[in-house]
Amino acid sequence: MSEEKRAHWGSRVGFVLAAAGSAVGLGNIWRFPYITQENGGGLFVLLYLAAVIFIGLPVMLGELAIGRHTQSNPVGAYRSISRRWRFLGLLGVITGFCILSYYSVVAGWTLAYIVKSVNGALDPAGFGHFVAEPFTQVVYLAVFIFLTCFVVVWGVQKGIERMSKILMPLLLLLLLALIIRGLTLPTAAAGLKFYLLPDFSQISMKVFLLAVGQAFFSLSLGMGAMLTYGGYINKGDNLLKSASAVVCFDTSIALLAGFLIFPVIGHGLTKGGPTLVFVTMIEQFNQMSGGQWLAAMFFVLLAVAALTSTVSLLEVVTAYLIDEWKLSRNLSVILTGLFCFAFGVPSALSLGASDFFSSIVFGKGFLDIMDFVFGNLSLTLGGLLMCIFIVYRWGIDKASTEVLSGAPGFGRFVPVWRVLLGFVVPASIVVMLLYMIITGGSL
Ligand code: PFF
Repeated sequence: MSEEKRAHWGSRVGFVLAAAGSAVGLGNIWRFPYITQENGGGLFVLLYLAAVIFIGLPVMLGELAIGRHTQSNPVGAYRSISRRWRFLGLLGVITGFCILSYYSVVAGWTLAYIVKSVNGALDPAGFGHFVAEPFTQVVYLAVFIFLTCFVVVWGVQKGIERMSKILMPLLLLLLLALIIRGLTLPTAAAGLKFYLLPDFSQISMKVFLLAVGQAFFSLSLGMGAMLTYGGYINKGDNLLKSASAVVCFDTSIALLAGFLIFPVIGHGLTKGGPTLVFVTMIEQFNQMSGGQWLAAMFFVLLAVAALTSTVSLLEVVTAYLIDEWKLSRNLSVILTGLFCFAFGVPSALSLGASDFFSSIVFGKGFLDIMDFVFGNLSLTLGGLLMCIFIVYRWGIDKASTEVLSGAPGFGRFVPVWRVLLGFVVPASIVVMLLYMIITGGSL
């Protein structure tokens, strides 16, 4: 048995913070607010909460149960229960690698914007120009991947757990400080109204499906990140409590991010979407006294959130290489980092720096395609197959036995869990995939 197989979290809090670190990321502070903004404000928030409770939590529990039961990386985990299902582990590892490659590009922007804020050089109109600079894009990508490698190379307790224990409280502090400042702005009331009052006229299949997809992305489900982290949980720990804590943490941060973004941007916003934080927020910061420093804090917040997520993505690939290919942790991290950088370059160049990568398929850029294929399709497909695996191959009884060791009170929830994993989650995902195919890939 390799040394890594025996790695475990130092404490339950350590696991919860690390898993919450994986979950809390650009998905919470950037993607959640802009999807909310585009899809009916409070209505989307309500649907998202439903998706988290009825889909996110049961899937999270299932993924952690597989991880702790097998104490392995995704490929080893599925293989040890059924050889034929090891492909699902491999899909997870590939998805993790691919998400890491483009996620690090956006994460790199947050570093660049910290530098711009500190230098007092924030220009909302400059975003298009910035993303089209090939050299800058590639350099920040490299820096972010390097930071991620630096943490993962130290291992589970000394690297990931220690980083999470420092960075997660910092993230919370920054977020709360920025929220307090934002709530004193004249735009706050209108923004909060939009955020909190559901507009039921906007209800549609699309909004519901977006909520499901966002729940998967935000909770880092469907690709083996939680499975890998679950593999480092001690046998007697209470999985139900841990899963609930991670879900609550992640959802609270997403909701809090809304309490930061909406009061600052106010209502009646026309520009939004992905440029929300890099353009609109900057326009607002520039109008505030001390805005430069608030912006710096905001981008540090984003960078911290992103780093704890990229670390979990890299750990999935690293755990796989250590267990399955018997490589050392150092070599696994270095190899993955290098390949990931190489594979991230097309994404980094796909926002205008290279015409070829900027409209590679159907006029869409490489980064957008990667996000659609791996950040949307692959996560939800992975989640679907994982539920089928748990209920119809591994068996809900065996999965429950794993959860019950450490959480004896879980017994009465088993029938509900079976229905959610065996029917509700798969049905929602199948409808989602069909909808995407019918509408030509656009959700
Ligand atoms: N949950 C992260 C976010 O919300 O930004 C993204 C992510 C990280 C997805 C790790 C999947 C994953 F395995």
